[in-house]
Amino acid sequence: MSTNKVYGDAPNELPLAELGTRWDYAREEDYEGIDESCRIDASMHSLFGVSKAAADLMVQEYGRYFGMHTVCFRGGCLTGPNHRGVELHGFLAYLIKCGREGLPYTIIGYKGKQVRDQIHSLDVCRAMEAFHGNPRCGAVYNLGGGRANSVSILEAITRVEEMVGTRMQTDYREQARLGDHICYITDLSKFRRDYPGWDISMSLDRIFENMLSPEPATVG
Ligand SMILES: NC(=O)c1ccc[n+]([C@@H]2O[C@H](COP(=O)([O-])OP(=O)(O)OC[C@H]3O[C@@H](n4cnc5c(N)ncnc54)[C@H](O)[C@@H]3O)[C@@H](O)[C@H]2O)c1
Repeated sequence: MSTNKVYGDAPNELPLAELGTRWDYAREEDYEGIDESCRIDASMHSLFGVSKAAADLMVQEYGRYFGMHTVCFRGGCLTGPNHRGVELHGFLAYLIKCGREGLPYTIIGYKGKQVRDQIHSLDVCRAMEAFHGNPRCGAVYNLGGGRANSVSILEAITRVEEMVGTRMQTDYREQARLGDHICYITDLSKFRRDYPGWDISMSLDRIFENMLSPEPATVG
């Protein structure tokens, strides 16, 4: 499991439009989001991102140099009812935990309009299964929820408030996290093209429902 952090903050170079509750890509050609051609160097990653980029290249190399079946899935926001979100990792799981338990939630930078696409762990497992059934050498795929499953922090707070039935206690910290993506949506075209039997099965609505009242998720 690699990560979209291998791209560092290069995705922030795309022209953005500020909408009411989210940032979005300003140009039509960027609508589907970030694909695997985004560069991975000459950007700020965080040490975590750099360590993942090093592993990503090594895994690719085993595929190319030794002809092994290897894949790097560059994850967007992977989540699900068992995700142990904490303040700086696992944004949706942590936000939902705060909403459910009435804990205060701090929005960090970008006016709370930063966007992440959410993929349920079930669909991550299904992608692994699809690759295992028809493996390639040195493959690299972006893997996230895609545009339909994208959500900003402000939008996620509103959804949780509607579902829980109470207002969340929030405050705002102006300084964004170093290298943090402003709008990240995963372009799933490459994986969909290579593995046409796979697609997202858990919509954003189902992800929220499943995480607010966890029950085993099933395909469909
Ligand atoms: N969650 C995300 O948004 C996201 C995004 C991109 C990439 N990733 C990557 O996906 C992977 C899983 O992340 P996650 O968010 O599901 O984390 P998580 O903390 O929910 O799950 C990690 C799992 O790894 C297990 N584990 C930890 N150390 C282990 C070890 N030494 N041997 C065997 N198992 C071990 C833990 O018990 C846990 O079940 C990580 O490599 C992470 O970098 C996650």
